[in-house]
Amino acid sequence: MKLLTAQTGLLGTIEVPGDKSISHRSIMFGALAEGTTTIRHFLRAEDCLSTIAVFRKLGVEIEETTEKIIVHGTGFAGLKQPDTVLDVGNSGTTIRLLMGILAGADFDATLTGDASIVKRPMNRVIMPLREMGAVYDTARDAGFAPIKLTGGNKIQPVEYVMPVASAQVKSAILFAALQAEGETVIHEKEKTRNHTEEMIRMFGGEISEDGLVVRVSGKQKFHGQDVIVPGDISSAAFFMVAGLIVPDSEVELVNVGLNETRTGILDVIAAMNGAVEVDMAQFSGTVRVKTSELTGTVIEGDIIPRLIDELPIIALLATQAEGTTVIRNAEELKVKETNRIDAVAFELSKMGADITPTEDGLIIRGKTPLHGAKVTSYGDHRIGMMLQIAALLVEEGEVELDQAEAVAVSYPHFFEDLTKLLPKNKQA
Ligand code: S3P
Repeated sequence: MKLLTAQTGLLGTIEVPGDKSISHRSIMFGALAEGTTTIRHFLRAEDCLSTIAVFRKLGVEIEETTEKIIVHGTGFAGLKQPDTVLDVGNSGTTIRLLMGILAGADFDATLTGDASIVKRPMNRVIMPLREMGAVYDTARDAGFAPIKLTGGNKIQPVEYVMPVASAQVKSAILFAALQAEGETVIHEKEKTRNHTEEMIRMFGGEISEDGLVVRVSGKQKFHGQDVIVPGDISSAAFFMVAGLIVPDSEVELVNVGLNETRTGILDVIAAMNGAVEVDMAQFSGTVRVKTSELTGTVIEGDIIPRLIDELPIIALLATQAEGTTVIRNAEELKVKETNRIDAVAFELSKMGADITPTEDGLIIRGKTPLHGAKVTSYGDHRIGMMLQIAALLVEEGEVELDQAEAVAVSYPHFFEDLTKLLPKNKQA
C-alpha cells in the first residue's frame, strides 16, 4: 500500500488499544482461575485473538461482546485435550506461555504457528520446562515449532538461572511452577516485564520479586477478576515518535499503561532532549509530546528489556536526532517476529537513513532527510508501523509498503488512528 505523508503537523489525542501482553495474560489467568473473569479494553488484534482461539480449543468457554470478554475459568485441571493442533498464528507470547501452562497437562498436544513462529527459538522455554519434568519435543531437538507435548508428567519446582532476558521464558517457568509442589526460584539476567507476576497477585495469588530474583510457590488458587486492560505503551510509542519528529506536532496519548518495566522509551526520549510530559494516574497515564530538536544517545544494558519492542521506532527517532545514536546489547532483536536489526537497517537505509547494523544493535547517524522507496514489513507488525511513521517525513517520492496487513497483529486500526492526527491530510 501507499503510505501517508504528513503535509501538516500531527495534532490531537489518541487512546491506543489495550496492552498486548496484559490481554494475553488476562485470558490465561481467566482460564486458570475459579469463576468468571471479565476483561474490558481487551486488545482485539490477531495475536490476542489467537490466544482466545487456543483456549477455546482447550475447552475454555470464552464469550465476546462489544465491550467485554468473559472467560469461564476451568483451572489447570479443567483444561481438555484439544482435537486439533494448537495454532498460535504469529504470537510468540501465546506459544511460549502456553508451554508453561500445559507443562503438567494429562493429555498430549501439538503447538505450532505461522511461518515466523516456526523460525523462532523455543529451546529457551523447552530446556527449563524439561528440568521441571515436562515432556516437550521438536524435530531433531532443534527447538523449532511444531512442538509436541507428551502429557501426564508431574511438575517439580526448579531453581533456574535464566541465560536470556525474556519475560516470555520467565512467564512460562512461572506458569509451570504454579503446577508444582514447593517453591520455584528464578534468577533473571535483567529485569523484564512483570505482568505475569502482577496478575498472579491480582488473581489472588502470592509471588515475590526481589531485584532479579522471583519466587513463587505452586498449587495456589486463583479467583476470577474484572480486568481493565490499560493502553499499550508499545503501540503509543509510534505516535510519540511521530509527534517528536514531524514538524509542528503536538500529540496526546491517554490511558497508556506505565508499568516501569515497560517505560524505557520515555527515558530515551528525555535523554535525547525530546519534549515529553507524563501525567501518571493509578495504573495508566497521559503522555504528551511535541516536535523537538533531538540529540543522539547511547541505549544499552538493563534498559534494553524495558524498551525491547520499541527499538525499531526508537531507531527511526535516532535518524532525526543530531549526532550518533548507538544501540547495544539488543541481540534479542534478531529473534523477534523477524530479524529486527537487519530489517530496520535495511528498510530505513532504502529511505536515506545512515544506519549500520551490528552484532547486537544499530549505529545511527543523524539527522538525515528521508525519501520515497519501496519497503517491506517482512510480515512484522512493528516494522510496518515504524515504516509508516518514517513515511510521514518524506517530501520527495512515495513510500510503498509491502505486507502492510501485518499491523493487524497488534494494532488493527493503526492507519485510521494515525489519520485522526492528520486532519488536513489525504492518503498519499
Ligand atoms: C512479551 C515479552 C517480550 C516482548 C513480546 C511480549 C510478553 O518478549 O518482545 O512482544 O508479553 O511477555 P521476550 O520476553 O521474549 O523478550
